Amino acid sequence: MSKAHWKATPLRSMSEEEFSLWKALIEERVGMTVDAARRSFFMTGVGLRMRELGIDDFGQYYELMRRGAASEPEWSVLVDRLTVQETSFLRHEPSFDCVARYIKELLQKPDLAQIQLWSVGCASGEEAYSLAMLTDEWVQASGRRIPWGVTASDISRPALARARQGVYTLRRLQSMPERWRQSYVELHGDGSGQIKSSLRERLCFVQINVLDLKAVPLQGMDVIFCQNLLIYFRRFHKRDIVNQLIQRLAPGGLLILGVNEMLDWRHKDVERVDDRGVLAYRRRALPT
Ligand SMILES: C[S@@+](CC[C@H](N)C(=O)[O-])C[C@H]1O[C@@H](n2cnc3c(N)ncnc32)[C@H](O)[C@@H]1O
Repeated sequence: MSKAHWKATPLRSMSEEEFSLWKALIEERVGMTVDAARRSFFMTGVGLRMRELGIDDFGQYYELMRRGAASEPEWSVLVDRLTVQETSFLRHEPSFDCVARYIKELLQKPDLAQIQLWSVGCASGEEAYSLAMLTDEWVQASGRRIPWGVTASDISRPALARARQGVYTLRRLQSMPERWRQSYVELHGDGSGQIKSSLRERLCFVQINVLDLKAVPLQGMDVIFCQNLLIYFRRFHKRDIVNQLIQRLAPGGLLILGVNEMLDWRHKDVERVDDRGVLAYRRRALPT
């Protein structure tokens, strides 16, 4: 990739035809829809990325992005510019409460061998670390030595790099309970804090495009947490993604989606959790 440099001349604006081509390519490669309302956000993101690469022609960048596997590293950066990477610790508390109840339930099982969780679309990692902290708390409280781990995936490599580091400003750390800050965060002198390595080593960060879930070998997940990701996709993609996710659940496993992110969807292998504050499903113990 060429060295980033900035040009003083403004980029010309994208023609309607170019915009349609880009829209179709983005949807094909990463599933993201760019409607008229997001057009200027999209143009700014693409324009900034082109400037970083020293490219000033939309057609040239488009051709670069159309190359098959060779363009994948660049897609993982462009997506970063085209999504709002907003997230926080315990972002939707009722959903995490639902996970905590399920972990407690699992820990009652005498034959429990391990606990596996997956944060899909983890952005800078707060969701994945929240799952890790609550699991660690409950496993410790149970007094049992149960192996457990969290897989955290995202398409964006820059986001995964930030997540792996686990360094957050104090303002971001304020959204977690004080007892978690005490137990799991190491404060740095510069006003930031890093998730302690003893917890970080429980997480595995991997790059996964949710459009490619069929090729992903993950199985037997006890909890899959997928919030604020499906909002970018058309209905048929959402359905395919969620159908793939439930195949990755262990029998009885829990899928948590964002409230209102998946309306009128049903699947014979899952049943809705009876909790109006969350959108959660349990995989049936035996296939029907
Ligand atoms: C708004 S963040 C959600 C973060 C977190 N799940 C939460 O709810 O706070 C959306 C994330 O989805 C990721 N994303 C977008 N398209 C994706 C795709 N095709 N495959 C995997 N991740 C994708 C983005 O990179 C971004 O990190």
